[in-house]
Amino acid sequence: MCGIVGYIGFKEAFPILLKGLKRLEYRGYDSSGVVLLEEETLQLFKKKGKVKELEQFVEGEQLAGNIGIGHTRWATHGVPNDLNAHPHLSFDGNMAMIHNGIIENYANLKQILVDNGFEFKSETDTEVLLNYIQFLKNKDLLSLEMALQQALQQVKGTYCILLLSVDEPNVLFAARKGSPLVIGIGKNEFFLASDATPLLGYTNEVFYPNNEEIIILRRHDYQVINFNGEQVTPVIQELLMEEKAIEKGGFDHYMLKEMYEQPESFTNCLRGRIQLDTGTLIKTEDIRSWVSLFQKAPRIIIVSCGSSWHAGLLGEYWIEELARIPVEVEYASEFRYRNPIIYPGDIVLAISQSGETADTLVALEKAKDQGALIFSIVNVVGSSIPRMSDAYAYTHSGPEIGVASTKTFLGQLGVLMLLAMSIAEEKNSISSERIMTLGKEMIRLPHLIEEVLKQHDHIKSVVKSYTSATDVLFLGRGYNFPIALEGALKLKEISYIHAEGYPAAEMKHGPIALVDEHLPVVFLATKDNCYEKIISNIQEIKARGGKIIALATEGDQIVPALAKDTFFLPETDELLAPFLNVIVLQLFSYEMGIQKGLDVDQPRNLAKSVTVE
Ligand code: G6P
Repeated sequence: MCGIVGYIGFKEAFPILLKGLKRLEYRGYDSSGVVLLEEETLQLFKKKGKVKELEQFVEGEQLAGNIGIGHTRWATHGVPNDLNAHPHLSFDGNMAMIHNGIIENYANLKQILVDNGFEFKSETDTEVLLNYIQFLKNKDLLSLEMALQQALQQVKGTYCILLLSVDEPNVLFAARKGSPLVIGIGKNEFFLASDATPLLGYTNEVFYPNNEEIIILRRHDYQVINFNGEQVTPVIQELLMEEKAIEKGGFDHYMLKEMYEQPESFTNCLRGRIQLDTGTLIKTEDIRSWVSLFQKAPRIIIVSCGSSWHAGLLGEYWIEELARIPVEVEYASEFRYRNPIIYPGDIVLAISQSGETADTLVALEKAKDQGALIFSIVNVVGSSIPRMSDAYAYTHSGPEIGVASTKTFLGQLGVLMLLAMSIAEEKNSISSERIMTLGKEMIRLPHLIEEVLKQHDHIKSVVKSYTSATDVLFLGRGYNFPIALEGALKLKEISYIHAEGYPAAEMKHGPIALVDEHLPVVFLATKDNCYEKIISNIQEIKARGGKIIALATEGDQIVPALAKDTFFLPETDELLAPFLNVIVLQLFSYEMGIQKGLDVDQPRNLAKSVTVE
């Protein structure tokens, strides 16, 4: 949540910052702004709305400066408006700051400042922190570095901040705790950002500062210290991402591109882990480390949020079915505030696209403190969650820019299934024939996903009849239940239509009261061991006049006879049907959003990387 960018060097900073903000806009789009530092003056430009509003706002302005910071906001403290937009200036006007995170004790700090004559322009916690640094600096005649250290020692919460001061006109200060930051090293220049995408095209030499570190950047050198002022040596890494991976590549929307990338991104997830020609699991170092961690685990607790939580739920079904290890699935935001029981040897498994979700991170810290082993499934390479895990697996889905997760959700499912299969193989909890059958079917999935994507036009024309719906119910059983939840979440996010996902049998205990001739009900009715049961559930809805939209297996004649509209899915193993069914529901939500004229890549109020709790 909130994207931050910074530049110090000899180039004009503004174009670099603007390009970076566009790349980070998925992190929040309530407002954006920049500050340029030139000849000991701070030039501030900020505007409510998306980055393009800022771009129009600065037209005709002198935008000189080769040091600068920029921010795109997802509002926490204070409504989205020009005043609450970042950057903020200190009360004396000499410093500028941007911030991603939340300062929890801002009210106490603000009271101290008010008592000392400070006034505030915004309602943000960021302006409080900035002024608190100014306050300490002036009160105790401290250097900015020292005032920053002392302020951060007193601050509670999470943050990544970038700070400029006219008193130090050749320095860019950064600090982080909890919120992400990557620093790109160029020749006599540095690039800073919340994720690596703004750095692409400038440098591939990077480092990721740890929590509670301050980074002091000058054009020719840099220094990293902890909050006690001790020097830290960062680990420099090579950035392997390519610029074309974050472009739209001829598609109208990132979401569309990312859905269509799924045959390839899913193949990348399988590559090196399963023989792509025979379906045999490969005993790589990667997989051996997972297996040795998991095979003796008495229990697995999965923690995650949003779509990643839905993936976790499916992980529970698969791991229990194949590997016979008890699994619990928890919302990270609940887990972190309750008093969970963790047994020695328990594995806490985090699933996170971004690797930065605040609730998941803190849940893991808590689990670690209680002696759990941490395993994570993450897409963003080098992000915070894998860095704090005992072992991890990347989904290798490539950068996902659309706010709603599509290809990364599929990647999470891919890793979970491979994990369940590899533990099962090691423990002999299912037969080797069954593993072989699943392996062979897994490697067929990219081709089957391509087949499902070919239904896009059909889905588009079906959606036309449903754009005026105000509510939609998604029902599934067994392995399709988590996909029903995911389908409902996608529809809410992308089309703003109220939707509920439910276990199909459970709908009799409440949601059935909503059913009338206006309510579309999407049934995930592909062939599996609950097939006959779900047909009864379809009948129950049909008897009450609900409009049935069904996902059915190719060749099925019973389900289409009951449904108003049917999408056919290629036959596959019942454990793997979710990989295909979810694609239909992604396209369904996308088309609903498009046909309602909405911004599918940046739906209102959402952010892709939720770095505040
Ligand atoms: C946000 C995103 C969702 C995502 C969730 C968890 O709500 O919009 O798409 O599923 O965060 O994020 P994570 O990065 O931990 O998977």
